[in-house]
Formats: sequence, structure tokens, C-alpha cells
Amino acid sequence: MNYIKPKQFDFSNVKGLTYNQLYQHYQLYKGYVNSTNKIRENLEDNSIYVNPSATYSNLRSAVKAQTFAIDGVKLHQLYFENLTGNNTIPYGHIEKLIVNRYGSYEEFKRRFMNTGLSVRGWVTLSIDPIDNELYIYGQDAHDNGVVLNAFPLIVLDVYEHAYMIDYGIDRKKYIDVFFNNLDFSVVNKRLKDYLNRNNKSPQYY
Ligand SMILES: [Fe+2]
Repeated sequence: MNYIKPKQFDFSNVKGLTYNQLYQHYQLYKGYVNSTNKIRENLEDNSIYVNPSATYSNLRSAVKAQTFAIDGVKLHQLYFENLTGNNTIPYGHIEKLIVNRYGSYEEFKRRFMNTGLSVRGWVTLSIDPIDNELYIYGQDAHDNGVVLNAFPLIVLDVYEHAYMIDYGIDRKKYIDVFFNNLDFSVVNKRLKDYLNRNNKSPQYY
């Protein structure tokens, strides 16, 4: 098996979230990395593949925990990566797609924010290869609400731990702060990666 290492992120230009808030959140992310490695170690061991039970068994616990932990790693990486405080004005291909899909960037933002206020874990703007369309998807947990194969372009963590130190229970304010720090060069790069992977030219749209 391969051991995952925590990625490094540059928060130096992030505005509106304190060092302590970001540091605590990053520590939580590192915990998911460690847990993923530990769970995967356990799942490499032949001895865990005994006495299976869909009600309770060590194997069941490990299998369920693996999904939660690895999705926790991936989602946090996507979140921290698009939270830089740089390139925060919408531009480029993603801006055009958002405006085509939602009528205006403001309308997209309103829907995204209200989705973030309606779920307990994550909200993403994803492009779904099933029809190559943008969708705002909401998740109640790392492993609850994930849409298979959907490609996340914008990722927001709405768990309380993401903002409680700085904003108490004011999630709306925190989501505003998120948008003020959202890096559209990262979002455009993700879109480009999606198009390349799926052999789509930008003219496809
Ligand atoms: Fe988080």
C-alpha cells in the first residue's frame, strides 16, 4: 500500500479567517490522513477478513471508516487548495459556464450559499460527466452525498469546525468570507483538467 502524506497549503493571503482557525482545521485534515493510513494498514492484514457481519464486525468498521477518512482527506485538499485569497474575481471559462448555467454569478452564489446553509458537511460546484453539466451538490458528511464520478470544481467545507472559532454559529458570514478568498485560477485549472481528461475541447460548450 502507499502511505498518504499531508499536502502543504499557502494560507498567507487568506483574509477573514485567523491563523488559529486555519491551523486547527489543518490539524484535523492531518488527522484524516493519519487515519486513512492506519485503516488501510489494517485492511492489508489478512486476519481482518474473518467473521464478516453487516451489523457489526471489525471488517465492517474498517470498510466504513476508510470511506469516511479518504473522502475527508480529498475534500479537505480540494477545499484548502481553492481557499487562497488570490485571483478572487471570477474570470475565464468557469465564469462563462456559471453565467450560462445560472443566469449570473450572483444567482449562482445565492444558490451555492443557500445549499451550504441546508447541508451539514460540504457543498460543491461539480461538473458531472453524465451530461457535462454544472451541478451544486450538497453533502451531510464526507461519505454521505458523494456523487460518483462528479468532478468538483469549487469545494466548501461547512462543518462548524471550519468557522466556529472565528464566526461562532454565523455560517452565512463564513460562506461570504469563503467567496472572498476563492481562487478562480484553481477553479479554471480544475475545469481544464476535466476537459482534458474527458477529451472535450472548450468549444464543446
Ligand atoms: Fe473540515
